[in-house]
Amino acid sequence: MSQLEQLAYVSRATVPMDALVNIAEILAASQRNNWRDGITGALAYADGEFLQVVEGPPEAVKRLLARVSADARHADLEIVSRETAARRQFPDWSMAMPRLSPESEPLMREAVRAARSDPRKAVADLRRLTEIDALHT
Ligand SMILES: Cc1cc2nc3c(=O)[nH]c(=O)nc-3n(C[C@H](O)[C@H](O)[C@H](O)COP(=O)(O)O)c2cc1C
Repeated sequence: MSQLEQLAYVSRATVPMDALVNIAEILAASQRNNWRDGITGALAYADGEFLQVVEGPPEAVKRLLARVSADARHADLEIVSRETAARRQFPDWSMAMPRLSPESEPLMREAVRAARSDPRKAVADLRRLTEIDALHT
């Protein structure tokens, strides 16, 4: 079996992410590139911070991290976990972005807030959010 790596990071948005066009641009790039590169994952945004989980072949994850690290739409990128994974947590999404709703907002906030101290829980929360209601790309 080929190797699978899962990486999670948090970062601070530097442009207003409540502008749908900004989210749409990120999702469009993800859709364009992630299927091609064997990457799947999820992206959450709350209180000015991103939490992103990406999973795929280690080389592809490394290249994506290099691209994303250089993106001026966010800063202070901090990797909270990076490990070899047995299986994908987001097999059906090139990049799922759980929709913000009154029901999902507390969990989304919690996932982003707790990512540094408990990344596993944050990934599990993100998966639950994705299953509830995600923008599929
Ligand atoms: C928070 C955040 C998450 C991103 N996630 C991805 C991603 O999963 N895949 C991707 O290809 N680009 C992602 N991007 C965009 C990349 O930084 C970069 O702009 C894009 O990959 C360039 O794609 P292009 O060469 O096809 O134009 C993300 C950007 C931000 C700010």
